Amino acid sequence: MSGREKLRLVDWEYKRDICRHVLDISGKTIGDLVEEVIKDTPEYLADDELVTKITQAARKWPKSTPDGRNSMIFWKRLAFCLDCQEHVSPEMLVSAPIETFINYLTDLKPRALQRLAFLKDMGEDDGEVLDDSHGPVTVGNLANDEELFALWTRDGGLIQTIKKGVAKHRLSIEHYYVDPDSAEGWSELVGREAYPTYDECKFGLRDLLKSEEWRKLVDEVMPSTMVMLAGGGAPTKDVVLIQGLTGRKWCKQVDYYLVDISFFMLMNSRRALRKLLPAYGLADVVNLHLLRDDVLMMSCCDQERFHKRGNVVFGITGGTIGNFSEAKLFDSLDRIALRNDLLIISADTVDGVSDKEKEEVREKYDNPALRDFIRPVVRAVLNTLDVVEPIEDVMDARFKVELLEGEKSASNISGGWSVVAKLAVSEPPITLFTSNRYSSSHLVAYAASRGWESVCRISSPLNSDFKQFLFRRKV
Ligand SMILES: C[S@@+](CC[C@H](N)C(=O)[O-])C[C@H]1O[C@@H](n2cnc3c(N)ncnc32)[C@H](O)[C@@H]1O
Repeated sequence: MSGREKLRLVDWEYKRDICRHVLDISGKTIGDLVEEVIKDTPEYLADDELVTKITQAARKWPKSTPDGRNSMIFWKRLAFCLDCQEHVSPEMLVSAPIETFINYLTDLKPRALQRLAFLKDMGEDDGEVLDDSHGPVTVGNLANDEELFALWTRDGGLIQTIKKGVAKHRLSIEHYYVDPDSAEGWSELVGREAYPTYDECKFGLRDLLKSEEWRKLVDEVMPSTMVMLAGGGAPTKDVVLIQGLTGRKWCKQVDYYLVDISFFMLMNSRRALRKLLPAYGLADVVNLHLLRDDVLMMSCCDQERFHKRGNVVFGITGGTIGNFSEAKLFDSLDRIALRNDLLIISADTVDGVSDKEKEEVREKYDNPALRDFIRPVVRAVLNTLDVVEPIEDVMDARFKVELLEGEKSASNISGGWSVVAKLAVSEPPITLFTSNRYSSSHLVAYAASRGWESVCRISSPLNSDFKQFLFRRKV
């Protein structure tokens, strides 16, 4: 390549998927890939912001030149991790079309070729999802039990049927997660460039848990239980959260609850955590508890269960609060929380967002990746209504995403907006999902009116509008 020619990243979607696959990386996002690739380099050990810096750069690679110093640390290390042929330079990895890229590999080449065939719909997957070849791993209370593990559930917390949702002209958010296809669809969505929220949240959580405010507060309250509400499907965030406690001197063991309505999302998390916890040296210090339940219907029995070892950190991350009735969620928290418990809410905010950015928010919910994600549910709606029109035509003509502000917003918290996705296949149209965004001050005021005092709020280093809010229970 001549000195003047700009380095251009080619076939990035394929490269990142194939690297994640052949390197056996549990996390799906670009941030997860960056961390796994560079985590043993001297540069990483010397700079605890390096993963954030490279991830920030990586989000721009498709449109810019990935030749900055930090970016090159990644590509150089990637060549090493992939065990490429000796003559392969980082620049060659960047600019090669995917077939050439795979040709540079040595032992990993057959797996990479198989994955590429799968991605191009020409071959079979090599069974990543069901792969249990890592052998038995002891995760806290699951020790010595390879086959069976406990998962709590109860008669309540039933899942709405599509038929009922259609009759009410409104689906519940759980439909997008409650079967194996949709749960797998979520994993794919978080890996797509069009859905940057997962990394924004994960990096924001990391900053929150490194903050002085967090350290001071947990050292005072000393919680050793974390309860993640609607917490399935975010295993690399789980690791960050657990580290936020295990890093403290007084914390010897963490009880970590994942509460989620979807069996498949819980399975998804457990499977990934069986690999991740040992890899981060956390296997012996975490008791993982799986609770399949509706977070809007938690009861006083749950309060007792969660507080067996003192105060609790509750969390609802990833902006998921915006998919619920906030009033119902806080009612549920009233039943399970006690004085001095902590609450982490990760949410998208609208503080100072310009009109141009507003359009970007709408686009975030109307793009091919998101359409792929909701397709199984849309198909089920069309089946229920006996609509024979091809799904693609329906999606093109009758799927609409609106942004509702002020009075029109669907949120219980004023000052924000709602993104509402509708399918006009009946009258009135069916609301497929709603996602609320908040004004920070209104969210804080609402939480205060519900017994939670604000401790701090921290913006994500990847997106200043995506914030982590930390609260403490006053009563
Ligand atoms: C966006 S996903 C995962 C969010 C994840 N906690 C994160 O931070 O990325 C939302 C999760 O909420 C779960 N969910 C939806 N409705 C629920 C409900 N009523 N009770 C419990 N979990 C629910 C889904 O099964 C899914 O796992």
